[in-house]
Amino acid sequence: MSTNRTFTMIKPDAVEKGHIGAILDKITTAGFNIVSMKLTKLSQNEAEAFYAVHKERPFFGELVQFMTRGPIVAAILEKDNAVDDFRKLIGATNPAEAVEGTIRKLYATSVGENAVHGSDSDENANIEAAFYFSAREMY
Ligand code: CMP
Repeated sequence: MSTNRTFTMIKPDAVEKGHIGAILDKITTAGFNIVSMKLTKLSQNEAEAFYAVHKERPFFGELVQFMTRGPIVAAILEKDNAVDDFRKLIGATNPAEAVEGTIRKLYATSVGENAVHGSDSDENANIEAAFYFSAREMY
């Protein structure tokens, strides 16, 4: 996969509140192309596997419970400098620290329920994208 791709999820809190359309509009207005996208729901096993890197953290149980409580939108996005630019667009993990106008500032409510995910490196973008999408689902 190209280094100009990143992976995102619109998390259960933002889906529940009806923010899918507004968040996708922010993403495409910022110049990201949607390469893959699906509305899906993580099972307990899938959420534990996706977040395995956090399994020793005190918030792991809460994170898995949150991410499995409802559907999410998973997507692969393409743009020059996708990983870094997308992390700027979504803002800090904690919405209280997020810059005005960022997706988390607008739609997240707490460090746990923070509306969107964005990959933190090209390597993780590839791993996370492959978790949800086969090669034939990437356009
Ligand atoms: P994200 O960066 O998408 O992936 C890891 C997630 O763990 C992060 O978003 C938050 O949703 C969650 N997380 C990180 N720190 C905390 C925390 N202190 N308490 C609860 N959840 C957290």
